[in-house]
Amino acid sequence: MATLKEKFYAKVAPMKERVQKLSKEFGDVNVSSVNVGQVVGGARDIISMLWDVSLLDKFEGIRFRGFSIPELREKLPKAPGGTEPLPEGIFHLLLLGELPTAEDCAAITEEWQKRSVLPQYLLDTMNAVAKDTHPMTQFSLAILQLQRESEFARRYKEKMPKSQYWDATYEDVMNLIAKLPNIAAYIYRRSYKGGKHIAPNLKLDWGANLAHMLGVTDDPAFKELMRLYLCIHSDHEGGNVSAHTTHLVGSALSDAYYSLSAGMDGLAGPLHGLANQEVLRWIQELVKDLGGVPTKEQLEKYMWDTLNGGRVIPGYGHAVLRKTDPRYVAQREFALKHMPDYDLFKVVSMVYEVAPDVLTKHGKTKNPWPNVDAHSGVLLYYYGAVEYDFYTVFFGVSRALGVLAQLVWDRALGLPIERPKSVTTEWLENFIKEHPPAAK
Ligand SMILES: CC(C)(COP(=O)(O)OP(=O)(O)OC[C@H]1O[C@@H](n2cnc3c(N)ncnc32)[C@H](O)[C@@H]1OP(=O)(O)O)[C@@H](O)C(=O)NCCC(=O)NCCS
Repeated sequence: MATLKEKFYAKVAPMKERVQKLSKEFGDVNVSSVNVGQVVGGARDIISMLWDVSLLDKFEGIRFRGFSIPELREKLPKAPGGTEPLPEGIFHLLLLGELPTAEDCAAITEEWQKRSVLPQYLLDTMNAVAKDTHPMTQFSLAILQLQRESEFARRYKEKMPKSQYWDATYEDVMNLIAKLPNIAAYIYRRSYKGGKHIAPNLKLDWGANLAHMLGVTDDPAFKELMRLYLCIHSDHEGGNVSAHTTHLVGSALSDAYYSLSAGMDGLAGPLHGLANQEVLRWIQELVKDLGGVPTKEQLEKYMWDTLNGGRVIPGYGHAVLRKTDPRYVAQREFALKHMPDYDLFKVVSMVYEVAPDVLTKHGKTKNPWPNVDAHSGVLLYYYGAVEYDFYTVFFGVSRALGVLAQLVWDRALGLPIERPKSVTTEWLENFIKEHPPAAK
């Protein structure tokens, strides 16, 4: 059987040809125009980067290499006796654009297990960090410390030719992804469980092993949750902060370690990945303030108080999506199957019934529907992962799959250093003076 790397290599030349043809023959065809609102408004909707591993439709949600989340939950290989997809499978799909077989997944599990050992100097560094440092800071620091291992950096110094960039990046990516569950579990046990670490179980797949090393429960459903969670958070096309940052930093030929560490710093923002911890904090506070599962009327008033206090309803709204996030739906289905009577799930469901209407009446957000972060916390909390400061680390472990699969492609295609044009406020004002809009 050809290895993952061999299969990837076989795809490079034809893909490169497609991209070069587009660039050479159609390089001057416009696909996007830019208005002043977009320049000052966070570059919304400007088509300006190539990202092959996933694509977001504002109404339908994410498609990973053309497959929707419900399709992938059905088609991707499962662990024996399991019903949720293996993250190994989604990585195979994102990297190669092909659905894997169970054997393909097993080969990736084996490969990651071999590469998963954390070097002692990394553990020493991690042990030196103050225990109350935010878990995302610890996660990003650990990835950055591991940069010492970079094959890309070493071979670049030894005058590696451009044609080899993808190969060195592939090695970095596989080494790094393999270690992420161990790093995450190490941070978790050190921060919250008195530094009593749990050895990895090499019989387990990547997601299940993370669940095992966390040591919060023996319930096999938690392993299933981890597999689902790590699949659905893996990618959300290229423009979101963590993906774009990884790509941008990587475009300077910074290696996978630098690039992912930077991406994780973006994920740690409350408007991005940190929203998952904010959702649970907000829900816990409301349950405490209202003395238990609230009525719809109480919840509605609580939301207005949040909004009138100048705060956002965490987990609602999206920069691109204009409907309920299918990642929310997948998690809701999981909750309906495994914890239908759980009080916090009831609150999350009630928020779903009340928030869209309140946000619509509030009239600011373009999307009153829930995003991925509105649901994940309650699932983790149910199984005993109650330290919600840690939740974004789970997101980060998963996000690595997508952004690093794309990074290997960036190197294989030889994508250039990224350099969009910025302008000053004065430049924009002068532009408007010189190009006055037609009177309405
Ligand atoms: C995700 C998010 C950052 C997208 O931002 P965006 O693209 O600027 O969203 P919009 O264009 O709809 O924002 C327009 C206005 O609605 C507000 N808005 C958006 N979502 C809101 C929410 N959930 N609650 C209250 N107000 C919200 C924005 O703050 C903005 O207000 P402003 O004009 O005073 O600055 C935003 O919806 C948000 O802050 N959501 C809560 C945090 C969250 O869940 N993040 C995770 C995203 S996966």
